[in-house]
Amino acid sequence: MAIRNIVKLGDNTLRKVCKPQEQFNLRLWTLLKDMADTMYKAEGVGLAGPQVGILRRVVVIDVGDGLVEPINPEIVSREGSQCGREGCLSLPGRQGVVTRPKKVTVKAQDRHGKPIEVTGEGFFARAICHELDHLDGVLYIDKMDRELTPEEIEGHIKEDDD
Ligand code: NI
Repeated sequence: MAIRNIVKLGDNTLRKVCKPQEQFNLRLWTLLKDMADTMYKAEGVGLAGPQVGILRRVVVIDVGDGLVEPINPEIVSREGSQCGREGCLSLPGRQGVVTRPKKVTVKAQDRHGKPIEVTGEGFFARAICHELDHLDGVLYIDKMDRELTPEEIEGHIKEDDD
């Protein structure tokens, strides 16, 4: 188990567009394992390559239903919208309200390079969109409706679905 350092806001790495992952080998699997360990240790629900300083299109997500590792992911369909709170391990202590699709389908590759398709709804869809944005240097603060106050972060805000 190797915990990697999480890159924080202000580091230019978070603003770069990542390159495709072309090698599906032990080096990738070690990265995926480290990213998952780092995410779980930080009690996050997702982590993208640039957040550990790796400018490749690699993501790990676990919203409580098991780990998914979409490599070179692309959103192929979006449905509906949801408005809710979002945070990021690269921006500790902050949260914002962000509008995201309610349901997304992603085409990607698995850790062996095999094509996969992942469909996410609700919070899982939100996490997918958030992590994929990281691969293009986009952070949730770029698209949030507003930032939450510390009091709101402690409490609960109403989440809208439509
Ligand atoms: Ni993030």
